[in-house]
Amino acid sequence: FQHKILSGKRVLITAGPTFEAIDPVRGITNLSSGKMGYALARAAREAGAEVTLVSGPTALPTPYGVRRIDVLSAAQMHDAVMAAVPGQHVFVAVAAVADWRVANASDQKLKKQDDGGAPQLEFVQNPDILATVAGTVSLSGWPYCVGFAAESENLVEYGAAKRERKGIPLLVGNIGHHTFGQDTNSIVLFDEHGHTVLPHADKLTLARQLVSEIGKRLEQRSLL
Ligand code: C5P
Repeated sequence: FQHKILSGKRVLITAGPTFEAIDPVRGITNLSSGKMGYALARAAREAGAEVTLVSGPTALPTPYGVRRIDVLSAAQMHDAVMAAVPGQHVFVAVAAVADWRVANASDQKLKKQDDGGAPQLEFVQNPDILATVAGTVSLSGWPYCVGFAAESENLVEYGAAKRERKGIPLLVGNIGHHTFGQDTNSIVLFDEHGHTVLPHADKLTLARQLVSEIGKRLEQRSLL
């Protein structure tokens, strides 16, 4: 029997972009590829976890042994996560969730106007899925919540502040903002002790390191 660091743990992960409809055939999305979240799902499964992946639209195959729930919008991602969260030991929010959705989305395809006029879109803020889950953490401390941050400047300062604001024990910062769609990444881990830089590597290598960091922290907790 080989000991795996997440054996017997249930891990919920969000990944990819969201798609916010403008009308039945158009919408607003972002350039997240889902690669980091999918790599993390694969690494968590390899580490013995039972993994549920709530995914926005991506072109990626489902990692072996992972339960995948497909969603489009941030609201759907929120609902799928809240339905899946009871009983989870770890929640990792990797998805690049749209901050806003279109408040006046049309049920019918918008028509081009003869007078050259353009539709006026109105926006409303989406729920913060990570902060919502972090707010439901019970006295038992489950689920252990991990967030991601893509800051374009002052990562160290903003990363530490974002960890506090979201009320989570661990935040992963992407160094630089050119990570979307790339196969490699550089990350910094922020926890209650400060921050640690993991050297530039491919996303699967980083995902495996991150899983081992999460596993170590869960073991430390169970000793408390
Ligand atoms: O506040 P910001 O969007 O920079 O935070 C990023 C982190 O929060 C990521 O872990 C992301 O998955 C999560 N998030 C979320 N729901 C939102 C916005 C961000 O879960 N509506």
